[in-house]
Amino acid sequence: MTSRSSVTSLRGGAIDAIRTTDIDEKTTLAQETAKRWFRRTLSLRSPLDAPLPERPGRPDKPELIAPTQVEKRSLHTVKGRIALLHAIAHIELNAVDLALDIVARFATEPVPNSFFDGWMQVAFEEAKHFRMVRARLRDLDADYGDLPAHDGLWQAAHSTRNNLTARLAVVPLILEARGLDVTPSLQAKMRESGDLESAAVLDVIYNDEKGHVAIGAKWFRFLCSREKRDPARTFHELVRANFRGPLKPPFNDIARAEAGLTPSFYRSLISTSNA
Ligand SMILES: [Fe+2]
Ligand SMILES: [Fe+2]
Repeated sequence: MTSRSSVTSLRGGAIDAIRTTDIDEKTTLAQETAKRWFRRTLSLRSPLDAPLPERPGRPDKPELIAPTQVEKRSLHTVKGRIALLHAIAHIELNAVDLALDIVARFATEPVPNSFFDGWMQVAFEEAKHFRMVRARLRDLDADYGDLPAHDGLWQAAHSTRNNLTARLAVVPLILEARGLDVTPSLQAKMRESGDLESAAVLDVIYNDEKGHVAIGAKWFRFLCSREKRDPARTFHELVRANFRGPLKPPFNDIARAEAGLTPSFYRSLISTSNA
């Protein structure tokens, strides 16, 4: 952990965490940087900050394949549960880098410091999620890296690298909100198959993710009001321009609404993005 002590800024800490290929170091750096930022012992930026890399550092494994090549999994077998936990671990690791990327990439935006508080809270929790899911994999005699994974999340974020409002539309309000739709049924299946430990991990993730969508919705609305734009209409425009995947019902309308994401945002996108 050579870089930890030398960094004096939030952006520098976030970039170091993004750059490292060591996943233990990445999650540790993400959480240490968050703690130091919350203790107000870091500046926002420093001229000494390393450049933000094009892609986050990742270990040699898992092998990255096209999203269409990822095998479907049944949760009735241990193998199936391992495959699902592996896919979730990969999502959580991406989520660590994506939260840190919002902080590092947009550290020069004219936003209050509480904006960075929100995303460092997210980064901290994504690192926690990754560790919890990885611990479950190890309980099942598996580990992160054993199976291939896909690069769809990072690619989805890449097109919004120059526009913070678009980034918030795609990452928290499309990708993380999708987690709210699918997690309850995965939890139920884990319980049915008797894997209560994994169900409990998913419960922690689900509750934290509501907060992540809420942080996304809050700052998305903040940016829209600053630019005097209608939030729902702006969301439609940005999603159509920057997100290729479909928006798949059923939606978890209650959890989405609790997070501030009302149906006026996503309902009208269903047909157009499936067309
Ligand atoms: Fe997460
Ligand atoms: Fe999240």
